[in-house]
Amino acid sequence: MKTVVTTAYRPTSQIFEQAGRVSADLSLNQIPRNKRSIERLHMDEIADLLICLKERLEFYPLGKNEPFFFHPNSAAFRTKRPLGQDPLIEVSGLQPGDSFLDCTLGLASDSIVASQRVGEQGKVFGCESHPVLAYVVGQGLQQYGGMPHLEEAMKRIQVISSDAVSFLEKLETNSIDVIYMDPMFTEEITEASNFTPLRGPADQGQLTDQWMAEAERVARKSIVLKAHFRSADFERYGFTRRVRPNTKFHYGVISCHTTNKQ
Ligand SMILES: C[S@@+](CC[C@H](N)C(=O)[O-])C[C@H]1O[C@@H](n2cnc3c(N)ncnc32)[C@H](O)[C@@H]1O
Repeated sequence: MKTVVTTAYRPTSQIFEQAGRVSADLSLNQIPRNKRSIERLHMDEIADLLICLKERLEFYPLGKNEPFFFHPNSAAFRTKRPLGQDPLIEVSGLQPGDSFLDCTLGLASDSIVASQRVGEQGKVFGCESHPVLAYVVGQGLQQYGGMPHLEEAMKRIQVISSDAVSFLEKLETNSIDVIYMDPMFTEEITEASNFTPLRGPADQGQLTDQWMAEAERVARKSIVLKAHFRSADFERYGFTRRVRPNTKFHYGVISCHTTNKQ
C-alpha cells in the first residue's frame, strides 16, 4: 500500500517544512491537506497517511481512524521496577555493557527496556521491516519528551529500517550478545497499546529456518523468542519455555555456545 505525507488540519509554516523533510527522507509524495478529514483523505488518495503534527508523526493505515504514533508503551512502567526482574531481561541474561539486537522493533518498548539495562556502554539495534513504522518510531525515540528517565536510553537505540534476516546476514559471527524476536502474534490478543491500527500493515512474517540459522550464528549469549503461548515455534526451534502463569504470551530462550561456529 502506498503512503502519502501531509500536515495537520491547520498547518503552520514549520509543519509544512517538516512534512517536506519527511517526504524527502522516505521518498514519498507530499499532498496538501486542504482541511480534509482523515476519512476524506483516505477516500481521495486510496493510500496510508503519514500526518505531520507539531508534537509527533501519526500514521493512519487506509481504512483506520485510529492513528499509530510513538510512545514508550509498556517500557514506561517496566523501567520503574528493578530491571533484573523484568521477564525479558531475566530470561535473556542481558547485562550492562552488552549488545542487543531486537529483530522486530515495533513500538520499541522492549528495546527501550533493553537499552536502559545495557546503559551507555552497551548497544541496542532495532530492525523494523515496515519503513514508515521504522521512521515514525525512529523519530519518536529521538524526540519524545514525556519521560525524562528514559530519554537517554531511547536516543541510544539505533533503528534499522530493514528485514531482520537481511540485517543479520551482514553481521559477523558471535557479534551480538542477545538476539530477540517478537513477531506478530498469529492470534489477536487484547493489549493496552496503540499497535492495533498496525495489525494489517505490520510485517506478519513468522520465524523461518533461515532467520533462526542466522540468529544462532550471530548470537553470543542467548536468543529469546516472545510468542503466543500456543505457538509451536518454541518446540520447533528448540527454545526452552519460561511459562508465565496467567499471561497470553511466553518467552523462550536458547543459550548459545560460541565454540564451533564458523
Ligand atoms: C509484535 S511487534 C513487536 C513489538 C515490540 N517487541 C515492542 O516492544 O513494541 C512485531 C514488529 O516486528 C515487525 N517485523 C515482523 N517481522 C519482521 C522481520 N522479519 N524483520 C523486521 N521487522 C519485522 C513488524 O512489522 C512489527 O512492527
